[in-house]
Amino acid sequence: MDNKTKYPRHVAVIMDGNGRWARKRGLPRVQGHRAGVIALKEIVKYSRRIGLEYLTLYAFSTENWKRPELEIKNLMNLLLEYLRNELEELKTNNIKLRILGDSSQLQAEVQQQLIKAVTETANNDGMILSVAINYGGRDEIIRAVKHIVADICAGKAGIEDIDQKFFEEYLYTKGIPSPDLVIRPSGELRISNFLLWQIAYSEFWFSDCYWPDFTAEMFEKALEDYARRDRRYGGVNSAD
Ligand code: FPP
Repeated sequence: MDNKTKYPRHVAVIMDGNGRWARKRGLPRVQGHRAGVIALKEIVKYSRRIGLEYLTLYAFSTENWKRPELEIKNLMNLLLEYLRNELEELKTNNIKLRILGDSSQLQAEVQQQLIKAVTETANNDGMILSVAINYGGRDEIIRAVKHIVADICAGKAGIEDIDQKFFEEYLYTKGIPSPDLVIRPSGELRISNFLLWQIAYSEFWFSDCYWPDFTAEMFEKALEDYARRDRRYGGVNSAD
């Protein structure tokens, strides 16, 4: 199909359903997350191959700390494993890694690996892969407000400077355009505190498929569906 010129520049994904995928198979939840990482790698590879500019993945929310300690430990270990095993692959494929969220709350070893991966991919310009870890949309907005107030108190900015463009400079996603398309598998129809500011005019694509079963073909289907949508941003079509 020749819809590729209408493909999104930025796709954000809520990787949901790992736990249910595991339960359905009588496996521990960690196996679902492990299978989720395999799906993630396929989507990263495919996105890079088709020339997507920005891919953003929700890996761990500010609310995920409520999960059992063992599950949190397993998720952090999977993240460490991913960073260690995939860094060379990211570099070879000219992918720049960005982290969205408050990584200061993560264990020291995770922080070190994140810094290493972000630093070593900083000059890449093929695709920006943002991974949201200890990320919450409300938390991000409050953090931005605090930094703006601090800058105003320090005389670095005035109240009259505040507009949408200015505000976006204080978000974790600074420099990254808003997602054109948000994909959520697993049958849930909610946003779960993901990129609240940034999704104001995003298109949504839902699927009943659990994340570990999500494939490049499904991702392509989402992009094709997106390409047929009519985005009006509150305006009207020029043909109307
Ligand atoms: C949601 O499924 C998934 C998560 C909370 C974690 C997603 C993390 C990964 C895929 C792996 C780690 C990340 C990286 C970047 C290597 P769920 O557990 O909420 O599933 P459920 O709703 O079926 O229980």
